[in-house]
Amino acid sequence: MNQPSNDTFLRALLRQPTDYTPVWLMRQAGRYLPEYCETRRRAGSFLQLCKSPALACEVTLQPLARYRLDAAILFSDILTVPDAMGLGLYFSEGEGPRFERPLREEWAIRDLEVPDPDGPLRYVMDAVAEIRRALADAVPLIGFAGSPFTLACYMVEGESGSEFRHIKTMIYERPDLVHRILSVNAEAVTRYLNAQIESGAQAVMLFDSWGGCLSDAAYREFSLAYIQRIMAGLIREKDGQRIPSIVFTKGGGLWLEDIAACGCDALGLDWTMDIGAARRRVGDRVALQGNLDPSVLLASPEAIVRETKAVLDSYGPSDTGHVFNLGHGISRLTPAEHVTVLVDTVHDYSRHLRGK
Ligand code: CP3
Repeated sequence: MNQPSNDTFLRALLRQPTDYTPVWLMRQAGRYLPEYCETRRRAGSFLQLCKSPALACEVTLQPLARYRLDAAILFSDILTVPDAMGLGLYFSEGEGPRFERPLREEWAIRDLEVPDPDGPLRYVMDAVAEIRRALADAVPLIGFAGSPFTLACYMVEGESGSEFRHIKTMIYERPDLVHRILSVNAEAVTRYLNAQIESGAQAVMLFDSWGGCLSDAAYREFSLAYIQRIMAGLIREKDGQRIPSIVFTKGGGLWLEDIAACGCDALGLDWTMDIGAARRRVGDRVALQGNLDPSVLLASPEAIVRETKAVLDSYGPSDTGHVFNLGHGISRLTPAEHVTVLVDTVHDYSRHLRGK
């Protein structure tokens, strides 16, 4: 397969020079777009949308038709993997994801198995292949998965908003059971991401959305160690092209240096830290992705321009190593036209900073 005609995103991740700073947004295909809501209605539900490769492809392309984004991200969810393990994923309106059979019993944890990416997850691989064909090498396609710990949070709690009480109790009472879940998850995610790469994903991102809820010692033992295991098992090159990997730990500011050493090419930053300070801490070991507060997009166009420039100024003069993004997913309340202001400001102002 060919290198995309716009490879700015891949080059920035690999710290090669670019003419401007590339930008994409976490959850760029989502409920802030009326056309997304329309396709989701046609699909019947969010899960049916994920499970239809044709419709997943349609919504992946929607934000690219509106904005000059520099990457596409597979439309799917991190919870497809535990769903394929048989936990029974469903979404109840307004309450987020839930599992019919949360993982609490020792026997169920012992019985947990790595799902075959070509079996119950085949629909994800079919979506990746279909999106690659539809993109026709215009921009690169990002594949993704949840981190073993973040998946375990949902698998054990079975619902959002439980303050992690089951998984945290298990960490302190039965760490052996948590390690068993994490080992299965790490193997499952490695195979899942490699299958996405084989199907056409040109970069991969690991979402560690809940690692930041752990103590310093527990983070290293129960989250970072398994991220490292995945990084060591990923396909690094396909058809002569490097496949860059991004690790995003929400609330991971404490551990930047350690995450930067886990084997990834880039670190995703949430909005709580200053990107320039982060850059000074990790040097040129990895690229950085982030980190505008998603709430900025709810404010006026003037505020969006000012805050976007502030992130670019803070990263500082350099012609590479920064992928602009939000510090977390875009809010469903974002006015769609505000995203145009953000994307155009990133492109124009970063060219200006490079003297182009
Ligand atoms: O970035 C993208 O555009 C790719 C698609 C994507 C989705 N979820 C689509 C989605 C990605 C990368 C994810 C990752 C994901 N899913 C994470 C990690 C990132 C993060 O936000 O921290 C997590 C924790 C999940 C689990 C999950 N799925 C949650 C908490 C929710 C929100 C529930 C809600 O009602 O807001 C989902 C649902 C979900 N995943 C939506 C989308 C567009 C909204 C579903 C809808 O249309 O109703």
